[in-house]
Amino acid sequence: MSGPSAEQLAALAALRAEAEARVRAARGRDALQQLRTDYLGRKAGRLTAILKGLPALDPDARRAVGEAANAAKAAIETLLEAAERALAPAGSEAPRPDLTMPARRQWRGALHPVTLVVDEVCAIFGELGFTRYVGPEAETERNNFTALNFPPEHPSLEMHDTFYLGEGMLLRTHTSPLQIRVMEAYRPPIRVTMPGMCYRRDPFDPSHAPAFSQVEALAVDEGITFVDLKASLTYFARRFFGPSVRVRFRPSFFPFTEPSADMEVECLICHGTGCPACKGSGWMEILGAGMVDPNVFEAVGVDPERYTGWAFGMGPHRMAMLRYGVPDIRVLFEGDMRFHDQFVDGG
Ligand code: DAH
Repeated sequence: MSGPSAEQLAALAALRAEAEARVRAARGRDALQQLRTDYLGRKAGRLTAILKGLPALDPDARRAVGEAANAAKAAIETLLEAAERALAPAGSEAPRPDLTMPARRQWRGALHPVTLVVDEVCAIFGELGFTRYVGPEAETERNNFTALNFPPEHPSLEMHDTFYLGEGMLLRTHTSPLQIRVMEAYRPPIRVTMPGMCYRRDPFDPSHAPAFSQVEALAVDEGITFVDLKASLTYFARRFFGPSVRVRFRPSFFPFTEPSADMEVECLICHGTGCPACKGSGWMEILGAGMVDPNVFEAVGVDPERYTGWAFGMGPHRMAMLRYGVPDIRVLFEGDMRFHDQFVDGG
């Protein structure tokens, strides 16, 4: 074959190849629709134009070009249909992103407010040379009571205060037994902070929990006096609550210290004028303290003629309530994310 039909067949092959390449490269329903119109469109389709021109050809050319044109049409049609099927069904395309939508917040963890307090207390005393020491929550009766100079008839020894585990063991009711452990493990000079959980048979109410944290501190050395205790604790209170906070010490009693004192800070809510939070007194008690009783030194084999020491025990749950204005201790145990979210990045 020669002449116009050969030219037409070559042009047709080129058109078919071009159409197939473009269909394969097309992305999206609109692009495919456009290609269908370009090549197969009833009015202006380029292949349609060739088919429309067939009657004008002589019979041989008409047959040859007609066959090739129909084959090309079928091939392009098949390709278009396959490409359209490969698209998601009409209408199901992902909606365009709504750029006005607020960004999703990143989910971030936070330290528990009680942990923040414990870490800060230990850090402040850390600067004064205190190291951190921890010990077991299941304790011996001897470490928890006897070695701490509790007389046998002390009310804390009664069943209603203490979770007894049997065989001379109990859940420690305070962190003071850690004083015994430290002094039996190390010789003076000693300066330690000792955080940990404690347990008492108290019902949950706004100011009590059967499990609660304490931070104990102990300093033992030659020549330590009550002045060191007052100065260290006053320094601590100013670092923790702010440089202008007022503190006072009031006589108290603990079996393992003599003399003993409670330290109070001016009420953080009313600043000393009196309010319901401080029961009108203007002061809030934050810890118990005292000079280590010589009987305790004797129980652990430290010479009370040579060494003296001071100790304190405070409740970080209570400190967290004061600092963060939490009215009910139970909030600190419930794990409600609306509360804990406030402590992301340190509160
Ligand atoms: N262990 C005492 C309690 O649980 C608190 C305490 C008071 C600890 C005086 C001390 C201290 O180290 O010196 O209530």
